[in-house]
Amino acid sequence: MHDNLIGGRWTSSETAYENRNPSDTDDLIGSYAQAGAQDASRALAAAREAFEDWQYSGPQQRFDLLDAVGDALLARKAAIGDLLAREEGKTLPEAVGEVARAGAIFKFFAGEALRNAGEILPSVRPGVKVEVTREPVGVVAAITPWNFPIAIPAWKVAPALAYGNCVILKPAEITPGCAWTLAEILHDAGAPAGVFNLLMGRGSAIGPLLCAGADAVTFTGSTGVGAGIREAAGAAGARVQLEMGGKNPLLILDDADLDTAVNCAVQGAYYSTGQRCTASSRLVVTRGIYPRFLAALTEAVAALRVGDARAADVQIGPLASAAQYRTVLGHIEAAERDGARLVAGGRPIGDGERGYFIAPALFDDTTMAMSVNREEIFGPVASIVVVEDFEAGMAVVNDTEFGLTAGICTTSLRHAEQFKRRARAGMTMVNLPTAGVDYHVPFGGRKSSSYGPREQGTYAREFYTIVKTSYQAG
Ligand code: UN1
Repeated sequence: MHDNLIGGRWTSSETAYENRNPSDTDDLIGSYAQAGAQDASRALAAAREAFEDWQYSGPQQRFDLLDAVGDALLARKAAIGDLLAREEGKTLPEAVGEVARAGAIFKFFAGEALRNAGEILPSVRPGVKVEVTREPVGVVAAITPWNFPIAIPAWKVAPALAYGNCVILKPAEITPGCAWTLAEILHDAGAPAGVFNLLMGRGSAIGPLLCAGADAVTFTGSTGVGAGIREAAGAAGARVQLEMGGKNPLLILDDADLDTAVNCAVQGAYYSTGQRCTASSRLVVTRGIYPRFLAALTEAVAALRVGDARAADVQIGPLASAAQYRTVLGHIEAAERDGARLVAGGRPIGDGERGYFIAPALFDDTTMAMSVNREEIFGPVASIVVVEDFEAGMAVVNDTEFGLTAGICTTSLRHAEQFKRRARAGMTMVNLPTAGVDYHVPFGGRKSSSYGPREQGTYAREFYTIVKTSYQAG
């Protein structure tokens, strides 16, 4: 049994979660403790107690801890990447890359602990000095999803600790292995008792308690759960930061380079089995390039190699769980019922019990009235919407309740510039896939995709610190 980490102690529980490999459900990875209400209360109390000292820890201590965690993640990236691919289902290169990204994030925020500068301003009153400084917020609850089971915990835990907060990490129920490994690394690197706590388990059992008891709640996951967290944490007076769904468009103009466009669509829509909030699920294509693009993309999608996430040469792994597998198949059925034309994939591979494989699906002849273009699917599914020109394309791009990423493929500088200004999204990409972002610059969206300050890069400081203005005579 892999235990929870509460107040510096590995703590078992009465119930355990059996972590299975979505590529091969006969493969039992291990059993992981499931925290209950009492564990949540104890973790909150331990974090609050630890905060008394940790808030005054110096930047060197925080740098040393985060830098050591970064080193350990990088040194162990092959083994942790293998575990990630085994429990979540992304391919080995993607999984190892994600672990390396988590390591880089820890090293970035190790440096940020040293760069937490304030300001000194002259007062409007003679003989008075004004200082503006940043202090930690307190106890941060980080509630993280299964699709980036090490990178997203890293980009919440690292800045929280760098700025002097104590953390309770509540990872997604179905990917406890990576979070447990991160906890082990933090523990071994000497995180003081209670500064970092791990609570694996069901969100419904511990989420409400964390929302009621933490000073700040940072969440990445579904729009529905995010709305509940915003209400619960908001009612308790906690700060809230939410990263939720996307229905990200990739606009392909007549003047696009065809190979670039096909490559962006394949990578953006299907890699990581489409289980990314940044995935390009809507391919908005102008009429001139449409026949060539459709033919080339259909061929590329049909050629994608689907299989065991850890097998050599596999490009697309399984869906992460039985529930996700069923949800995605349901979306595909709904699209067909609405009259969308399936031109590639879309069918289960295998029996759906031993592994959750679906052939990457491409829909043509879709309209913005169809649910396939409205709802986040979170699977290997993309749909084509044909438009007359750039202006009509921009209208479709912005016709969504979401606003995380938006991409364009074009060789026109004018259209690229206009797109960057007019796309109502937190991030825009020109001749690049909408998914796959850097770790040292802000990440976040608009509309129903996000709430609260940006994550990552220097901008992360906004959420994890509270401003103090100090006046002094003399
Ligand atoms: C990426 O595309 O590199 O859950 C990151 C998600 C996002 C992270 C995507 N929060 O898919």
